[in-house]
Amino acid sequence: MPRITDKYSTRSEAIIHKGSCYDFVKNIPDSSVTLVVTSPPYNIGKKYEKKSSLNDYYIKQEQIIDECVRILADNGSICWQIGNFVENSEIVPLDILLYPIFYKHNLKLRNRIIWQFGHGLHASKRFSGRYETILWFTKTDNYVFNLDAVRVPQKYPQKKYFKGPRIGELSCNPLGKNPSDIWDIPNVKNNHVEKTIHPCQFPIELVERLVLALTNEKDMVFDPFLGVGSTTAAALKNNRKGMGCEILDEYYDIAIERTELAMNGKIKTRPMNKPIYDPENPKENLEYELEFKSAQLTLFHKSPAYRVSK
Ligand SMILES: C[S@@+](CC[C@H](N)C(=O)[O-])C[C@H]1O[C@@H](n2cnc3c(N)ncnc32)[C@H](O)[C@@H]1O
Repeated sequence: MPRITDKYSTRSEAIIHKGSCYDFVKNIPDSSVTLVVTSPPYNIGKKYEKKSSLNDYYIKQEQIIDECVRILADNGSICWQIGNFVENSEIVPLDILLYPIFYKHNLKLRNRIIWQFGHGLHASKRFSGRYETILWFTKTDNYVFNLDAVRVPQKYPQKKYFKGPRIGELSCNPLGKNPSDIWDIPNVKNNHVEKTIHPCQFPIELVERLVLALTNEKDMVFDPFLGVGSTTAAALKNNRKGMGCEILDEYYDIAIERTELAMNGKIKTRPMNKPIYDPENPKENLEYELEFKSAQLTLFHKSPAYRVSK
């Protein structure tokens, strides 16, 4: 059996369909996917979409979201990553537009994550946009959430209580801190190690955080608008199953290539939680990076995985 198939099968590690998600999704059984994560077209006239009225856009999004809810397992999550529809310098935040569709299904919104990044178009009639959002919904109250898998280094990992009954003990969690709902992750521009021909691909570290926190090993992750396969690559890199659809041949081919690399442990990615580079302070970057690496090492030594492997 090939490791990547085009048609849905419970035996495949990865399923990448060349064609539209609207047809493909009908073949996915109910409650079979633990995480849906996607960035759909924004209806702004990119090469891969036909701009339509916001009403028609809403109807199409509703069709696919309804299906994603149907295929979602009871302990599963949907993460809809989205920005603004823009016309004549007026913006419509698409997460606000689409929220009622999720609400109608009684999904529970756990976080509205702000993904902030340093680069993008320079606006002249408003402030330049430097964030997008991820709406994270769960189907029920009993959902997978592995916080320890995505903790980030504490700013002062050695800080101790200086009074009270726990004086002298570490005052912060030695496994690191909760990454919060504001994520500072560089978007994929020309100098990014993951850059392909796609104009708006996910950074793999962003999807990895969701995959690690919201699924367990061998669970299925689905991206209806797969692009160049960042979601399937992030899933396979972390021993999950991955599935997605892409309509354009040139992106589909790259999705297959990157997913195979991830399966074989050969995909090159920007490491999760790597500090943001500041070109104006090269010395500070180096110091910060060294501090980060030592904090990561401490985090690893205190993690359950290290204790098991010893
Ligand atoms: C915003 S991009 C997503 C990029 C993706 N997150 C990545 O990292 O590469 C949306 C993608 O959806 C694809 N697409 C548009 N309509 C589609 C459809 N009906 N079915 C499947 N893919 C579609 C587009 O070609 C485009 O690559």
